[in-house]
Amino acid sequence: MGIIGTETNNRCMALDERYKQIKENVWKWEKAGNCFSVKRYRSMSTAMKVRYIHDQLRSIAFPHIVPVMPEDGESPLTFIQPWLEGAKAVNFKKRADRTDSLAALQALHATKKELDWHVSPYLHIHPLVAKWEDRIERFHDIRGACESFIEKGLVDDILLYAIEAMSIIRKSYIGTKDPTLLHGDVVHHNILRDPSGMIRFIDFDLACSGPAGTEVALWIHRVLPQIGYDIEFLFDEQPSLKELDQDLLPLLLYPNELLREWLHLFTLPAESRTRQANRLVPFTQNALSHWPKLWYDVERINV
Ligand SMILES: Nc1ncnc2c1ncn2[C@@H]1O[C@H](COP(=O)(O)OP(=O)(O)OP(=O)(O)O)[C@@H](O)[C@H]1O
Ligand SMILES: [Mg+2]
Repeated sequence: MGIIGTETNNRCMALDERYKQIKENVWKWEKAGNCFSVKRYRSMSTAMKVRYIHDQLRSIAFPHIVPVMPEDGESPLTFIQPWLEGAKAVNFKKRADRTDSLAALQALHATKKELDWHVSPYLHIHPLVAKWEDRIERFHDIRGACESFIEKGLVDDILLYAIEAMSIIRKSYIGTKDPTLLHGDVVHHNILRDPSGMIRFIDFDLACSGPAGTEVALWIHRVLPQIGYDIEFLFDEQPSLKELDQDLLPLLLYPNELLREWLHLFTLPAESRTRQANRLVPFTQNALSHWPKLWYDVERINV
């Protein structure tokens, strides 16, 4: 087939083939009237993991994935799936998208009833505590730089909430409890709704194993900014959240999105950094204005 990779490959491309670059390592490939996504992995272990997960999920006809094309002489680092024409990333502002993406995520986690994820050599346990402590460390390093965009008091608040939350999480969180497959990156653009209405997960690059509730908490982190951080509203709207393990509720106190976004800001080139900061400053002010109530609400759920 001769896919992306070398310039020679691209020059030898048949006349009925076209590539549109979507991201640095992702292309939309059109061939003979059919479209595919082509992802080029740098790491063999990630490519093998993602293929293994799709093979396993396909073996039980799990519906919320996109099929994988056979390797067919391609490099094992190249991963090809049919392009879901007309599919849209979910919008967590919409009730139907929250409800359906949560149900699909819970169905993914429930596959542990049929598949022995914990015996897989490809899936490492989600290193939540180490990762979140590392985020705090790295945020310490950029706090001075953040203060050129937002008031010192707000930078202090982010750190205070993060440290306080971690002191609770460190005591209560058990990352090895009843592990299942976790998608690992439940951001809206990795959760597509196809034109038939079916939710499809893409991009299992960060998949790992861990307690199902860990990933439900990460999903809540992504949803909260879209619903005014109203956790009571969300728990009423999505009754299945009431089954979330009590040990996992403190995860909701950690300002995950704020730390991630500020750390990301300083990886950007100067021009896009200013543009992104203009968005991030009001996002941060808004989030922090809701944090005391959020903390109060989580403690009230946690009785
Ligand atoms: N099969 C597909 N059908 C339709 N769109 C797709 C498909 N695969 C990928 N895309 C689009 O391409 C984007 C990038 O793909 P993917 O998430 O795999 O790359 P990525 O580099 O891991 O992205 P990120 O790290 O930002 O999550 C997706 O967010 C989606 O919009
Ligand atoms: Mg992605």
